[in-house]
Amino acid sequence: MGRVQDKVVLITGAARGLGRSHALRLAEEGADIIAVDVCKDPSAAHYAGSTVSDLDETVELVRKTGRRAVAKQADVRDRAALAAAIAEAVEELGRLDVVIPNAGINPVGNDLPVTAFTDTVDINLVGAINTVHAALPHLGEGASIIVIGSVVALMPRFDGMGIGGPGNAGYNFTKSMLTEYADWLGVQLAPHNQRVNVVHPTTVATELMQNTTMYKTFRPDLENPTADDVAGALHAVHGLPVAFLEPADVSHAIVYLASEESRFVTGTQLRVDAGMINKLAAGARPGA
Ligand SMILES: NC(=O)c1ccc[n+]([C@@H]2O[C@H](COP(=O)([O-])OP(=O)(O)OC[C@H]3O[C@@H](n4cnc5c(N)ncnc54)[C@H](O)[C@@H]3O)[C@@H](O)[C@H]2O)c1
Repeated sequence: MGRVQDKVVLITGAARGLGRSHALRLAEEGADIIAVDVCKDPSAAHYAGSTVSDLDETVELVRKTGRRAVAKQADVRDRAALAAAIAEAVEELGRLDVVIPNAGINPVGNDLPVTAFTDTVDINLVGAINTVHAALPHLGEGASIIVIGSVVALMPRFDGMGIGGPGNAGYNFTKSMLTEYADWLGVQLAPHNQRVNVVHPTTVATELMQNTTMYKTFRPDLENPTADDVAGALHAVHGLPVAFLEPADVSHAIVYLASEESRFVTGTQLRVDAGMINKLAAGARPGA
């Protein structure tokens, strides 16, 4: 308890999934939360987006821990709207200590138009940069920026096994670009005693990952694959015996990087990958 006591944390994509989980774990450890989400269907993706009631539920769950939560509906692509939303929320909560640009989409499938690539770049890369840059004027000494990558960022030019399509290519591109961005930004911010780290999760049980179209990238041989059908393929790429992590498995790493426990940790690419990258380096290949 109290590992991030009285810190104020900004999280985008906080209506559900990993963003909500980070909000709750951080609130349990004493943080107040600024929860931002667009609450709309992603235009490019084959899965439903979050809703306003999802965002309300995140707020309610945070408040049940006894901490404060401010929700803002904003699209991370719109820097001006995002900056205004952040400024209002910081005014209300009094400060800003931690920034987590977590909003993202991953539309998969060869049938998608090239806008699936550009939409994904706009949200995952430009949106993450917008979030950090809109937040920077509010950050003081000791601030922590935690960029959300993915294991695919650590698999250079990974092509989604040929069936990911333009959206998934955009996803893999944005996640590797974010690792570069974080490294470069981290060097600039270190003299101000501000830190930038990246967390790279493997497959987590959220909407983005758990849908039929995504399952088909792992099991193209099946008409309507389920989570159980892909479990074997995911076990095969992971070192540790797991197919899907729970969101909280990633949130524990987030709490560490948000807290003073990591006060001299910057420029880290922290994998929460069940040993996947290490196993790939040893010769295994997804889909093989
Ligand atoms: N689930 C996984 O397996 C996994 C693995 C590695 C990395 N990640 C990353 O974790 C992050 C969260 O993903 P998730 O799995 O919780 O997915 P999710 O779809 O459950 O949540 C993503 C959230 O982002 C929001 N969002 C989308 N576009 C937005 C926009 N333009 N502006 C504001 N909010 C927007 C959505 O409304 C949604 O609430 C993403 O960056 C994703 O790339 C997820």
